[in-house]
Amino acid sequence: MKRPWYRFLYIRSPLVKIGLGLIAVLIAIAVLLFQGVIEEQRMAAQTANWEGRGIEKGAEIFATNCSTCHGMDGKGLPAVAPALNSKYFFTQRLTDVGWAGSLHDYVKLTVAAGRPSKVNTQWAQIMPTWSQSYGGPLRDDQVENVTAFVLNWEEDALQQGTADNPDPWQMFSDAPTKAPAGGAAAAAPEVAAEPTGPRPPAELFVSMGCTGCHNLAVPQTDNNPGPIAPNMGDYPERAGQRVAGESAEVYTHNSIVNPNAFVVPGYNPGVMPANFTERMSEEEINSLVQWLLDPNRPLQ
Ligand code: HEC
Ligand code: HEC
Repeated sequence: MKRPWYRFLYIRSPLVKIGLGLIAVLIAIAVLLFQGVIEEQRMAAQTANWEGRGIEKGAEIFATNCSTCHGMDGKGLPAVAPALNSKYFFTQRLTDVGWAGSLHDYVKLTVAAGRPSKVNTQWAQIMPTWSQSYGGPLRDDQVENVTAFVLNWEEDALQQGTADNPDPWQMFSDAPTKAPAGGAAAAAPEVAAEPTGPRPPAELFVSMGCTGCHNLAVPQTDNNPGPIAPNMGDYPERAGQRVAGESAEVYTHNSIVNPNAFVVPGYNPGVMPANFTERMSEEEINSLVQWLLDPNRPLQ
């Protein structure tokens, strides 16, 4: 009988059979391992891609919903909303508010729920509620995306603290700690300094958010009275003429402690915060009054 062409497949020796079986198994394992390595890289690339897209979507959400208050670059707007793209925010904020969780959760929860209960703050408006779960306009994945976008500022924010790249931090009246100075290496939280006497008026005018509404350098004219609040360039000249019987000092003091007692014509009551007496000492308010009325005050 003629032997078939595939006779070479008949292996008689059991040892050779076992050997071949072993080799087949080893090859299978090697293929699986190799596949595993590739898959891991593929998954990592996929995840990075996914996260990148989340941040991109978050950027759009930020531009449409958040930048009006927090600024296009997230560096905050004085008196309107605090800086998020700030070294202070990434290194010190959680300590100041006593938050034990992660920054991710802090941002996500603040965005989701807003801070609707803080009606009378140093900021002109409240932080709105964003998540649909709390009655806001954004889906939870959109809240997550905008959170990722905010957290993505970390690398840049940690470089802040130099002369050409200052930290845009604005003092929270309830958390007056400063971000640690220096580069990323010096990011360890400092011990909060003890309050040291009255703060100087020029500093108060910034930290209390007055600059956000009042322009110190520009005079108030008919064409340019100041968009949000009266311009202050020529303030010493007019302060004594606002209210009959009130000296410039008395009028200015009243304007700060009780802004709605007299409302400058052309402006709305209730815009200027009415809680400055809780945030400055009487001594500080008086020094601010003197400073505002000083005709030689340097224009900023
Ligand atoms: C109407 C103005 C306004 C808009 C719009 C706004 N915010 Fe805010 N946001 C604020 C104010 C004011 C605060 C500070 C609230 C406080 O603590 O009194 C704040 C606080 C925050 C904080 C916490 C900051 C901290 O240090 O505690 C985060 C995070 C934040 N906003 C993110 C966002 C994001 C993201 C959006 C867009 C989805 C957004 N905000 C839109 C006004 C706004
Ligand atoms: C959120 C915006 C806002 C902030 C912040 C703000 N103001 Fe005002 N301020 C106004 C508006 C609006 C008016 C005009 C309406 C009125 O008289 O209440 C005004 C009026 C005044 C006047 C009277 C001006 C005039 O021409 O007669 C003084 C003085 C004044 N502000 C000082 C301050 C000081 C000092 C601070 C910071 C400690 C401050 N304001 C913060 C909005 C603001």
